[in-house]
Amino acid sequence: MLSKKATCNSHGQDSSYFLGWKEYEKNPYHPLTNPSGIIQLGLAENQLSFDLIESWLESHQEAMTLKKDGVLMFKELALFQDYHGLPAFKSALAEFMSEMRGNKVEFNPEKLVLTAGATSANETLMFCLTDPGDAFLLPTPYYPGFDRDLKWRTGAEIVPIHCSSNNGFKITKQALEKAYNNAKKRNLRIKGVLITNPSNPLGTSMTRDELDILINFIASKDIHLISDEIYSGTVFASPGFISVKEVIKGRDDVSNKVHIVYSLSKDLGLPGFRVGAIYSEDDLVVAAATKMSSFGLISSQTQYLLSVMLSDKDFTMKYIMENKKRLEHRHRIFVDGLESAGIKCLNSNAGLFCWVDMRHLLKSKTFEAEMELWKKILFQVGLNISPGASCHCQEPGFFRMCFANMSTDTLNLALQRLNNFVEADDTNCTHRRLSSLPKWVRRLFAFSSQMGSSPFAFLSKVRTLDKTQHPCVNALNPSGLAVSS
Ligand SMILES: Cc1ncc(COP(=O)(O)O)c(C=O)c1O
Repeated sequence: MLSKKATCNSHGQDSSYFLGWKEYEKNPYHPLTNPSGIIQLGLAENQLSFDLIESWLESHQEAMTLKKDGVLMFKELALFQDYHGLPAFKSALAEFMSEMRGNKVEFNPEKLVLTAGATSANETLMFCLTDPGDAFLLPTPYYPGFDRDLKWRTGAEIVPIHCSSNNGFKITKQALEKAYNNAKKRNLRIKGVLITNPSNPLGTSMTRDELDILINFIASKDIHLISDEIYSGTVFASPGFISVKEVIKGRDDVSNKVHIVYSLSKDLGLPGFRVGAIYSEDDLVVAAATKMSSFGLISSQTQYLLSVMLSDKDFTMKYIMENKKRLEHRHRIFVDGLESAGIKCLNSNAGLFCWVDMRHLLKSKTFEAEMELWKKILFQVGLNISPGASCHCQEPGFFRMCFANMSTDTLNLALQRLNNFVEADDTNCTHRRLSSLPKWVRRLFAFSSQMGSSPFAFLSKVRTLDKTQHPCVNALNPSGLAVSS
């Protein structure tokens, strides 16, 4: 009964990324009402600085009640439906975007297109730049939502640029060329590269070198670059954030080919407000995207409220600094907690998540083993995390874990659960390993642990003893075989 579009599976809803959310919704953790429920570590939400926004709202009742200089703006806002957006909001957003980039670059409000979040911004750009069947190259691992946002309704294709753990998943010229050639072999028309900087799921910002490689690549192939900079305000440690806008200064050959996506969902923690934007120097892209934006506008009262908030420079400066401090602190707690459980993650300086390496916990180096571990962690440990496979990572055993969408207590509980799991897994592994050893070696392990010693230390002690002095020696090695340490 439904259209092909409605029923095709390029939406990606069956990915473990979305399935994990569904399981969480069936059994969400709550400290009082459901203490054994699932803790959500699969949602990149920033809840660390709500108090700052709430206290601004408390002290700006005029904006909250849609008044300006004592006059109610209700009728004006209720009737406003211009798809170019409220000029005051576009100016405030353009300035906020500059501020987020340390005022090293400027954004012209006339080149901004407002959209209902970055989801809509990314899809709109794909509609503007691709025809069905055309392809964009994306470095892996990438945000699982891109399969839905970029491909589903537009009919565009994603070709992965495979990045590797060997160099911290950085983009290289070789990886770009390889992806390009693969797409060519498949007879796909390549229209551009799409990156997220800082990266979701890696939590790292791109270096100047990486950005230069990318710009030179798109210039040489005469294709577009979309830079999704939705996490630009989350860079809490060095190296700082470099926007692609900075890198293309003076590069007239590419300035019309580079398009930036932004949103207030992460930096301000307002995903429910659905505020996003496209920034492009290409007037044709701006005009086409503006026409298309009528399918996903931002409501005028949201624009009005945020225009007042973002124009308050004291507030925005304080918010940006404090939010970064809190993210850095949270990140430290999380990374330290993982380390105590013997788990490492990619060195990161941004984002609301870590890219966690659990390869040592896999039964084998396969995606089946990754899925098995994910299910164990979801159903037995009670944590929803996102497997690397859902981010199209090529190496099994990596997981994205979010750390900014819950209280510190809940995060500590999540870390405790993970720690208990790893310890139990260690014991199980030891048991598994021991059961394959000869009986006398198993006895040696059992005796030595009863004596509070390691098997080797215990062995060197008993070797110095005469059998008659220590009956354990006979019990341990009834076969009488020589035991070497
Ligand atoms: C890289 C990236 N782009 C886009 C989005 C969608 O954001 P929005 O809520 O603004 O639609 C997300 C959300 O997680 C994201 O991580």
